[in-house]
Amino acid sequence: METNEKKKVVLSAIQPTGTPTLGNYLGALKNWKNMADDYDCFYAVADLHSITVRPEPAQLRRRTLEMYALLLAIGLDPEKNTVFVQSHVNAHAQLAWILNCYTQFGEAARMTQFKDKSEKHPENVNVGLFAYPTLMAADILLYQADFVPIGVDQKQHLEITRNIAERFNGLYGDTFTIPEPFIGKAGAKIMSLQEPTKKMSKSDTNVKAFISVLDDTDTIVRKIKSAVTDSEARVYYAEGKDGVNNLMGIYSCCTGKSFEEIEQEFEGKGYGDFKAAVAEAVAAELAPVRDEFNRLIADKSYLNACMEAGAQKAARVANRTLRKAMKKVGFYQL
Ligand code: TYM
Repeated sequence: METNEKKKVVLSAIQPTGTPTLGNYLGALKNWKNMADDYDCFYAVADLHSITVRPEPAQLRRRTLEMYALLLAIGLDPEKNTVFVQSHVNAHAQLAWILNCYTQFGEAARMTQFKDKSEKHPENVNVGLFAYPTLMAADILLYQADFVPIGVDQKQHLEITRNIAERFNGLYGDTFTIPEPFIGKAGAKIMSLQEPTKKMSKSDTNVKAFISVLDDTDTIVRKIKSAVTDSEARVYYAEGKDGVNNLMGIYSCCTGKSFEEIEQEFEGKGYGDFKAAVAEAVAAELAPVRDEFNRLIADKSYLNACMEAGAQKAARVANRTLRKAMKKVGFYQL
């Protein structure tokens, strides 16, 4: 890329609700890393979002630090990219309030994640859960992001972000860049290893259903060995072969091989050989992340310094957009 050409902006975020799974990693984090050189990247730990399910405070604090360390461990350079914690930049909550007033009740009520989470936690259907997408819109629009690397499950939230931004721009003139989702071909939806019609999720009660990015090699091998497949014992991609399709997707993401190449590689071989190869590829992908995480998490003062610098860099950009939006809606300027 030409040095005098302004780089396109990328923003994404992940909630500190537990150690990320292989799904988070292949669906989003690996793309974050791949985009880091060619774009001006802003990556956040979305702690404001995570209090919608009321985590235990000490746990939230610990998980925020761990998630931050993990983002650096996957290879994000805190000097080159802006890696920060959402609650450290006040503009997110401020712009979210403004955007709430430009979002219709009906469009927020249509969000499938809101409907799913309300069903899952009927005892705590709070207003924050309802307003979750406007906070996410604020995250994205504050940085004038061109691209947002996400898994398929966040696509609807990106659509509402685009609608809100277009509505605001329509009323007040160009204020926000309209963002595009960036969804990888393979890996966009990694499924549960035990119920391959359901997405892999870090909150699954069955630990055999997901691989955590910090699992050791033995655990990875064991979980992939026990992954649900089918009785056909032939490796090829086809409708209905959900378990095998999922393992092929995982293998493809970790090795860069296409589905055709994978089918050729395992022609005449059974699921035992296939699973062993998938486990080896996943273990090789995650081992350096785990080692780097263990090194970084022991250095809290370094992590704190990076977080502070990240928050300052993020705030400078975010405040510029926030001021612009505040002016447009008519807040009295001093
Ligand atoms: P979160 O924390 O649930 O997940 C982080 C990222 O991982 C992706 N992902 C998956 N991809 C493939 N297969 C899976 N099984 C899988 N599970 C999760 C998610 O799509 C996501 O990209 N609301 C967001 C966090 C957020 C955000 C933002 C994202 C807050 N503000 C602004 C983008 C832009 C969330 O809960 O992601």
